Amino acid sequence: MTLTRTKLVAVVMGAALALASVAGCSSTRSNNTPAGGATSANAASTLVGIAMPTKSLERWNRDGAHLEELLKKAGYQTSLQYADNKVDQQVTQLQNMINQGAKVLVIASIDGKALGPVLQQAADKGAKVIAYDRLINESPNVDYYATFDNYKVGQLQGQFIETALGLKDGKGPFNLEPFAGSPDDNNAKFFFSGAWDVLNPYVQSGKLVVPSGKAPKTDADWTSIGIQEWKSETAQSEMQNRINSFYAGGKKIQVVLSPNDSLALGIAQALDAAGYKPGSDWPVLTGQDADKANVLNMLQGKQSMTVWKDTRALGDEVAKMVDQVVKGQTVDVNDTKTYDNGKKVVPTYLLAPQVVTKDNVKSALVDSGFYSASDLGL
Ligand code: BGC
Repeated sequence: MTLTRTKLVAVVMGAALALASVAGCSSTRSNNTPAGGATSANAASTLVGIAMPTKSLERWNRDGAHLEELLKKAGYQTSLQYADNKVDQQVTQLQNMINQGAKVLVIASIDGKALGPVLQQAADKGAKVIAYDRLINESPNVDYYATFDNYKVGQLQGQFIETALGLKDGKGPFNLEPFAGSPDDNNAKFFFSGAWDVLNPYVQSGKLVVPSGKAPKTDADWTSIGIQEWKSETAQSEMQNRINSFYAGGKKIQVVLSPNDSLALGIAQALDAAGYKPGSDWPVLTGQDADKANVLNMLQGKQSMTVWKDTRALGDEVAKMVDQVVKGQTVDVNDTKTYDNGKKVVPTYLLAPQVVTKDNVKSALVDSGFYSASDLGL
């Protein structure tokens, strides 16, 4: 049997994307892009829309740029849009992509419940939808989902606190202030429940005390401490309020559960302003994303850990998914049970998050090429 040129190119490109995906999971990455110049006939005529939530958070800039680069190298046309965290803007951007004939939409949603009607328009035009990082809820028209294991992210934060404070050895009581992510982001509840399932037993036994009273009774009550739009400024003023109202007379915060780096940045600013000092009374403070400002804070003792999600690996996986969808091939997924969006269980590819502290910044983030040593002043 002879292969046509189109098929041969398609095979080469598939192999290149598969290799790129494997490279994304290893600690060192030599070349994470498809083989030089390989362009399938399919790809060349296919527009892929990439909808990202905002440019104001470092990670989404990295996510968008990396995915666009991979798809372009594989010969796809792309439309990459950022929506300034405004749902209406994201909907309009998606409508434009559909009207331009996009065959695949990759969407990191702002509000996971707000895209039903526009996704129906996509389905009517035969466009496939991949939810990127955040699940899209209440729509049957979500074909695939790719993300890091969100529950695990929270669990890693909770377990870090458990170990750092020696809670398993019976140490305590410690003063804890918990925070949660944006109530409209479907990921935020997984982050919170992963952490709270570890920490709540210690709150119940009195080894963790929450002087502000802002301790959700159950996982489901997490929105009561959610920070809208994941804003650093809101987290900062919330931390300031708690310090002013509940920590008079020398009482100290000993641990802060922060679900991500944008919140941790605001919380660290409030701690700074209140006179907390790294290396003496600075509390244990968690985070997520390995944003540069937070890695610098870790190196200065102002943040204890971050949960690193190598956004390049997510992009590699999603580029592969796009290619498989376009070619009508079986799409690689590894979880077909967990992510029920209210209308269906969305087939998902889950990647593993990793804890980074100041002790492994170099081996995890610099040796893998995520940051250069000079980015971090190392
Ligand atoms: C992402 C996090 C990010 C947060 C704020 C979440 O959906 O999974 O990595 O920190 O949004 O942008």
